[in-house]
Amino acid sequence: MFTRKLTKKEAGIVRLVIDFVKNKHIRQTGHDYAHVLEVCRWSLEIGSRIVEPVDPFVVLCGALLHDIGRIGAPDGSFHGLDGAARAREFLEAVMDNPEMVSRITGLVVRHTPTSGIPPRSIEEKVVCDADGIDRLGLMGMFRGIMNRKGSMEFIIKDRIRNRLQDYDKLHFKESRELAEPYYRETLRIVERLEKSLDRRLLNLEQIESLKLIRREF
Ligand SMILES: [Fe+2]
Ligand SMILES: [Fe+2]
Repeated sequence: MFTRKLTKKEAGIVRLVIDFVKNKHIRQTGHDYAHVLEVCRWSLEIGSRIVEPVDPFVVLCGALLHDIGRIGAPDGSFHGLDGAARAREFLEAVMDNPEMVSRITGLVVRHTPTSGIPPRSIEEKVVCDADGIDRLGLMGMFRGIMNRKGSMEFIIKDRIRNRLQDYDKLHFKESRELAEPYYRETLRIVERLEKSLDRRLLNLEQIESLKLIRREF
């Protein structure tokens, strides 16, 4: 549950953060501004439903800034750590509260497994779950394979099937409740894709009408 409302001063800072991230994310391929907004939406939904106390300013700024490290970085393997440095520079310029800045930048580092440091605070877990929910469902899967290279088999079996594990990794039962319809949608899509994958030909002999024209090759 949210412990309080944003102060007037915080609301002003949030507006500055929105301008900063919107401009940067708007032309991104998979992690576009719509993704940032979805993560804000799910973060606020989870934050309002769980019993643990949640700071609204940390969650909202963290959700807005969580993928700022992806901008201009085609390989996202350091986007949590790089993003935290970018977020820190920006936040220190617009606010004077080192403890709050650290809580937000810590969230940016730990929202992604690529940083190798699991989320610790409630706010970090909330945004991490929100990000996980937006990886589920048709749009989440589509986002996940944009710009991915590899065979269809690899993308379907590895990349898309992996999305299902995101559901199990959610931290709160409230997150799993919110994610449930998207999880089911993902399951249906994976089953259909795998069936279609099994129908793909592996060799010429599988073509039934080949026998009509067959000679030794
Ligand atoms: Fe991320
Ligand atoms: Fe994200």
